[in-house]
Amino acid sequence: MINDLIRSRRSIRKFKDKKVEKGKIDQILKAALMAPSSRSRCPWEFIVLDDQDILSKLSTCREHGASFLKNAPLAIVVLADTEKTDVWVEDASIAASYIQLRAHDLGLGTCWIQVRNRFYSEGVETNEFICQELGIPRHYAIECMIAVGYADEEKSPYDEESLKTEKLHYNGFRQGFELN
Ligand SMILES: Cc1cc2nc3c(=O)[nH]c(=O)nc-3n(C[C@H](O)[C@H](O)[C@H](O)COP(=O)(O)O)c2cc1C
Repeated sequence: MINDLIRSRRSIRKFKDKKVEKGKIDQILKAALMAPSSRSRCPWEFIVLDDQDILSKLSTCREHGASFLKNAPLAIVVLADTEKTDVWVEDASIAASYIQLRAHDLGLGTCWIQVRNRFYSEGVETNEFICQELGIPRHYAIECMIAVGYADEEKSPYDEESLKTEKLHYNGFRQGFELN
C-alpha cells in the first residue's frame, strides 16, 4: 500500500555491508523512468554508482551531509539536461522521490544528498566537483544523489497523531483545515 510506504519511509544513512541485487536496481530505475515530467520533456538522467572508490570520492562532495556515502553500496545520481526545460529541478526532484519510494518498497533504505546549490569548497560547487569526477557534460546539472542500501539502523514510521496539521489551510491562508 502506498500509504504504508509513505508512512514508513525514513532517511537511512547506515547501511549493511551487502550489495543491492541487480534486479532491484532495475526495478528502481524503471520507477524513475516512469516519473512524470513537465510537458513530458523527461530532462532527467540517472547514473548508477556501485564502485566503492567512486562512492568514497563523492562522499567528500560537501563538507557536511554526504560522508555516509562512503559506506553505502549504491548511489543513484539524479541529473537533468537544463536545456530541455526550465523546470528540471521539479522534474528531477519527483524522479528522486520515486527512487526513494520504490527502493523502500523493495526493502531498501535511502537518503537524499543535496547537490544543487551546495559547495565542495570555497568557490567550487558540489555540482562542478561531481560533474568533473563522472565526466558529465556542461549543460547537465545534478539535483541530488540518492544513497541506497540495506538499512543498518532502525527508524520509527511517521505517526499520524504528530503530523504538523498547522500547515494545512482552508479556502485561503487564514483558516486551518481540520483533519479527521
Ligand atoms: C531536498 C532534500 C535535501 C536533503 N539533503 C540531505 C543531505 O544533503 N544530507 C542528508 O544526510 N540528508 C539530506 N536530506 C534528508 C533529510 O534530512 C530528511 O529527509 C529529513 O530530515 C526528514 O527525515 P526522514 O527522511 O527520515 O523523514 C535531504 C532531504 C531532502 C528532501
